[in-house]
Amino acid sequence: MEKTVVLVKPDAVQRGLIGEILHRFERKGLQVIGMKMLRLSDLKVEEHYAHHKDKPFFGGLKEFMQAAPIVAIAIEGTDAIEAVRIIVGPTKGRVAPAGSIRGDFAMSVQENLVHASDAPETAAAEIERFFAQDEIFAYEHAPRPWVYAADER
Ligand code: RTP
Ligand code: MG
Repeated sequence: MEKTVVLVKPDAVQRGLIGEILHRFERKGLQVIGMKMLRLSDLKVEEHYAHHKDKPFFGGLKEFMQAAPIVAIAIEGTDAIEAVRIIVGPTKGRVAPAGSIRGDFAMSVQENLVHASDAPETAAAEIERFFAQDEIFAYEHAPRPWVYAADER
């Protein structure tokens, strides 16, 4: 089982899409193992988008990510990192395929509603960045036998 992190960005919080976004992951069969609302500090946003620090859009991105609270969601499932990225869709909302969150609700490159971890290393770092140990919950996911075949769990 893989763990991954989704951030519901300030635009999605403002647009009343928290529930819609959460619903997409829940109905897929993924397990929610942590969830919290927070405001991103300077340190957190600079850490989280460190790979974009020298890009011309970094200032605007930082301001956007701090413009309202976000919701951090920790998710578990088989190949969860890839499965979640597919549900999220590609960065640029207006060309993201219909059916993905960005494809259905976003028109912007920056205001694209959600973040999702993109690799096992970033997922592990992001779980630590956004959740204390006691904010991640290990519990039996009752539908698991109905979501996965035995050799996929
Ligand atoms: P994310 O990290 O938020 O899940 O998004 P991503 O992998 O699809 O895209 P990434 O390249 O990692 O970019 C991170 C976020 O920065 C904003 N962005 N703005 N103005 C621009 O050209 C630009 N490029 C990226 C977006 O909010 C993007 O999701
Ligand atoms: Mg990214």
